Amino acid sequence: MDKSLLLLLGVLPFVLFQGVASDTLCMVCQNFKKGQCLRGKGNCTMEQGPGCRTRDFFIFSEKDGWRLNHTQLDCYDYCSSSNFYFGDLKISTFCCKGRDFCNKYYGKGKE
Ligand SMILES: *[C@@H]1O[C@H](CO)[C@@H](O)[C@H](O)[C@H]1NC(C)=O
Ligand SMILES: *[C@@H]1O[C@H](CO)[C@@H](O)[C@H](O)[C@H]1NC(C)=O
Repeated sequence: MDKSLLLLLGVLPFVLFQGVASDTLCMVCQNFKKGQCLRGKGNCTMEQGPGCRTRDFFIFSEKDGWRLNHTQLDCYDYCSSSNFYFGDLKISTFCCKGRDFCNKYYGKGKE
């Protein structure tokens, strides 16, 4: 038998197993500050996609400029990193996957 085919047969079950086992557990939190969840703590699982989401909510004031109000953590199938402005509200979004609770290491809420 061809050597590369043998190699493929050996690797294939491993690849399939990896595919099945790729769920990522994400942290859910309504109000996340300084690495701690103050309110609405939970978790959710993402089976695919960039999944775990971190959102920093900033509020603008004349006096202080943009200041972090709170950070939220959750799961979102269509997560994409972005900055969204809505009047004097700014929402910065971060996405991650592949590491359980990875979304608590992003955004300003971790500081
Ligand atoms: C996920 O949340 C559920 C309740 O919502 C809890 O029972 C479970 O222990 C949590 N899992 C982890 C790994 O934190
Ligand atoms: C600011 O954070 C508080 C919780 O700390 C929340 O109740 C309030 O809705 C937030 N404001 C905005 C505009 O998101």
